[in-house]
Amino acid sequence: MSSFSKPTIFVTRRLPSEAQQRLESLGDRAIVKQHNSIENISRQDLLDSIKGIDGLICLLSEKIDQELLRTAGPQLKVISTISVGYDHIDTAAVKAHGIKLGYTPDVLTDATADTTVLLALMASRRAKESLEIVKSGKGSGFSLSTGLGTQFSGKTLGIVGFGRIGCATTARLVPFGFTRVLYTASRAHEKRARPFNAEHASFETLLSQSDLICICCPLNKQTQGMFDARAFAMMKPTGILVNTARGAVVNQEDLLEALDRGLLAHAALDVTVPEPLPCDHPLVLHAKCTVLPHIGSATEETRNAMGNLAIDNALAGVFDQPLKAEVQL
Ligand code: DGY
Repeated sequence: MSSFSKPTIFVTRRLPSEAQQRLESLGDRAIVKQHNSIENISRQDLLDSIKGIDGLICLLSEKIDQELLRTAGPQLKVISTISVGYDHIDTAAVKAHGIKLGYTPDVLTDATADTTVLLALMASRRAKESLEIVKSGKGSGFSLSTGLGTQFSGKTLGIVGFGRIGCATTARLVPFGFTRVLYTASRAHEKRARPFNAEHASFETLLSQSDLICICCPLNKQTQGMFDARAFAMMKPTGILVNTARGAVVNQEDLLEALDRGLLAHAALDVTVPEPLPCDHPLVLHAKCTVLPHIGSATEETRNAMGNLAIDNALAGVFDQPLKAEVQL
């Protein structure tokens, strides 16, 4: 970009309405190009669209790797992902190219924690089975002893990953009556844990003692596949697993086998591998598994806030300003 020309920002998706309006009003500051669709952009279209851009606003469905960075060219200054997770991005390559990386923490914490609670309640109260009964028309109305779920009073909550979303989830769930909270994290977070009396526990302790386990951690080398056959074997047979983080934290084949063997009572997943999970996938069909299509942050308020923060980050990056929310590479 010469000192007189406007920077070019490419956006890989149509944004939620308010953020889209703002994007469309940026013309005096930047040239905005966009894959103006609510559907994914194909890899080839993405590569064809990014040559010579200064900023990229992308989603978790786009792989940001060496090939893409090289294709964009050395003038690329900023990648701004509309997500808090950035496991789709080769951060080492981004760093090596001297590119800034923006993301959208905080603004999606409440919505994602709400979804975690939604899934926890759906699982504990067997909502999937009840909905199926209604749909099939085979229900017999009020029943005193069938379709009974469990409640959280007096139980132990286990939180995997005690960051913003893990804490917000704990704050929402404790009032349901949990009397003990365990969490795993790479280190103890005494201040965050204090309001809940939460105990920093080993993964093994959390698995074997929790009645409800919520996965709220980022996907990285340490967490990839951490819920595997060994982990499921340590869970309580009455235990419930909720995942609103990333699908790859759970080994889905092992999960399927564990559900079949009764090693846990129910798994409720907002995130899977792949996304979407085919409608005939055994986990989708399984009575003890509830699957949502990655709607953790899907509220009007949150998605617009994410879009706006991503725009802020991209604008700051192309004009060499500090990003509002930057990943420290
Ligand atoms: C994220 O931001 O990483 C979520 O998975 C989507 O909101």
